Amino acid sequence: MRTPFIAGNWKMFKTTKEAVEFASVFRTLYKDTDVKTAICAPFTQLAALKEAFSGSSIKLGAQNMHFEEKGAYTGEISADMLDEIGVDYCIIGHSERRQYFCETDETVNKKLHKCFEHNITPILCVGETLEQRDDGLAEVVVRIQMREDLKTLTAEQVKKLVIAYEPIWAIGTGRTATPQQANEMCGLIRSSIVELYGDEVSEEVLIQYGGSVKPSNATELMNMEEIDGALVGGASLKPEDFIQIIDF
Ligand code: 13P
Repeated sequence: MRTPFIAGNWKMFKTTKEAVEFASVFRTLYKDTDVKTAICAPFTQLAALKEAFSGSSIKLGAQNMHFEEKGAYTGEISADMLDEIGVDYCIIGHSERRQYFCETDETVNKKLHKCFEHNITPILCVGETLEQRDDGLAEVVVRIQMREDLKTLTAEQVKKLVIAYEPIWAIGTGRTATPQQANEMCGLIRSSIVELYGDEVSEEVLIQYGGSVKPSNATELMNMEEIDGALVGGASLKPEDFIQIIDF
C-alpha cells in the first residue's frame, strides 16, 4: 500500500522572510494526516524552513543539486551540503532544468546516484513537450527518460524513488492533463518499471502527477488508480491553497 505524497515545488519564489511566514501559517492549518507532505524550496530558505517545520511531519526538499561530491563548481550545491541541513528530498531533472540549464538524462542519472549515496530521496521528473504529445511520441519519450535516468540504479534504490510525471505543456499554463491522460502516463511509468525491475519493485514506487494541480482538481486527480501524489508548483505558494490540496 503506497502512502499518498503531496509535495510543493516553490521554484524561484519567496525570500526567507516570506518562507518563514508561509511556514507559520501552514503549521496552524496542517493536521497530521495519512498524506506525506514536503516543501521543496530554494537553497537559501532550507535551513530556516528546517527549523520552522521542526517537530512536525512536514518534510523538506531541495530543487536541484550537483552530482559530484565536492569540487571547483562555482555556484553549485552538493548532496553533502543538503544532507547537513537535514533535507529529505531533492527534485531531480525538472523540465525547467532540462530546458533552461542543460540538464540531460546523463546528469540526471548521476544525480540520482548521488542522492542515494546521501540518503536523500529523489523526486525524479519526467514528461513530454506539447510537440512530442501532438506527434504521438509522449509514451516513447517518457520510456526513454525512464530507461536512461534509472541506468544502473539497484532495485532497492528504485523502490525508494519518487517519480513525478510532469507533462511540460501542463506546467504553469493552467492547462491540466485530464485525469485520464495523467493516469495513463503514470500507468505507463509503472509498467516501464515492471519491465526494468519487475512487479515487486514497481508496486513500491510512488508516482506523482504535476502540472497545474490546484484545489479544484486535486481530488479528481488523486482518486485516479495510478496516481499516488502530486508535485504542485503555483498552488503550493499559498498555505490556504496547498492545505486544500493535501486534504484532497
Ligand atoms: P504548476 O503547478 O505551477 O503548473 O507547476 C508544476 C511543476 O512544475 C511542479 O514541479
